[in-house]
Amino acid sequence: MIGFNEKDGILHADGVPLSAIAKDYGTPAYVYSAGAIRAQYTALSGAMKAALPENRQPMLCYACKANSNIAVLRVLQQMGSGLEIVSEGELHRGLKAGFDPEKIVSTGVGKQAREIRECLKAGIHQFNVESLPELEHIQQIAAQMGKVAKVVFRLNPNVTGGGHHKISTGRDRDKFGISRERVIEGFEMARDMSHVEALGLSMHIGSQIFTVESFKEAFEKLPDIVGELRELGFAIERLDIGGGFPIIYDDEKLLDLSAYARWVNDIVEPLGTEIIMEPGRYMVGNAGVLLSEVLYVKETKDRSFLVIDAAMNDLIRPTLYDAYHGIEAVSGRDTVMTTYDVVGPICETGDTFSVGRTLPTMKTGDLAVIKSAGAYGFCMASNYNTRPLPPEILVDGDKHAVIRERQSYEDLMGGDIIPDFIK
Ligand SMILES: Cc1ncc(COP(=O)(O)O)c(C=O)c1O
Repeated sequence: MIGFNEKDGILHADGVPLSAIAKDYGTPAYVYSAGAIRAQYTALSGAMKAALPENRQPMLCYACKANSNIAVLRVLQQMGSGLEIVSEGELHRGLKAGFDPEKIVSTGVGKQAREIRECLKAGIHQFNVESLPELEHIQQIAAQMGKVAKVVFRLNPNVTGGGHHKISTGRDRDKFGISRERVIEGFEMARDMSHVEALGLSMHIGSQIFTVESFKEAFEKLPDIVGELRELGFAIERLDIGGGFPIIYDDEKLLDLSAYARWVNDIVEPLGTEIIMEPGRYMVGNAGVLLSEVLYVKETKDRSFLVIDAAMNDLIRPTLYDAYHGIEAVSGRDTVMTTYDVVGPICETGDTFSVGRTLPTMKTGDLAVIKSAGAYGFCMASNYNTRPLPPEILVDGDKHAVIRERQSYEDLMGGDIIPDFIK
């Protein structure tokens, strides 16, 4: 994993031993490598540079739902990234991190009035419209504000992609996007609207897409619909081709970025539009780990449970998607191996990170990492079982800093109110 390597028998994040991080900040804690994030950005933008002409490079808009810590956003903003947002909160985070509003695209099936208003006020690049009622809503708010909203329509290409059915988004039955017929209706409606300018299409078929040909299948739907829309007199100036690039969690075959870039060059580029991409997981997934301490080794009749201090409230992916995450010991890595069920302290059988995983033999106080936790990790964490949210730590070479403090109990419970009628 780029950014996480063994030195002198101890797993390090960049140049810093994870044992030192645990000592300084406690566990559980998310630890990210700035170098690994930069390397991912460079790999993707480099593949595009190699395949597409210099003056036709895509705008990479990092999908910050994957990891929206403002320091992580700043690392990507400094690399030249744009941003894909799905809420008013993500807009505020993006602006705070220094993103140019002209490089922000807003997606999501349920855009709310104040979110639309804030995006218009900031002057974002575009709204990716997911339904015709949403289009009318944007027109109404833009008219009230005296602004013109730039929109593209999210096409549902009816393509199966995504590493799990809960993260497939491009099939007819999914709530996302608009059918081809309705997209044409949308352009017709927009033509008659005073405060909306329809400029193109977007699509995003899912996340952790293993069947990489799914991208090609989706791209191949574009020339036909773009041609039809142009024949009908609509200007198609922008194509947003979404995110969904996979990362390695286990032994998956990594997406061949150069093949992907070639498809963009061969299928999308000839359409002569601005090209936008929305990678999330790819940028940050392998750049983070969840660092945890062993609380107990619990032996039962037929198994050994490694009870660690991280739990499903910190990292929900295994519980939610049956997702696989690699687990490694931080030190003592060349000792005798034992097979464990790795579980957290939460009162749910689903609070299980892995069943039957063979790891170096461990004891109370030893440290372990759950790998590939940089995407859809902290940002999906909750306070279930009244557990405070863990801290986030950024490592950059030999430097490290807390980029979000461990939540205090005061913060955790501060919003609870006992009403007068039960006092
Ligand atoms: C519209 C949109 N764009 C981009 C992404 C990012 O996907 P990924 O993290 O798989 O690249 C998502 C993820 O849900 C999404 O819904």
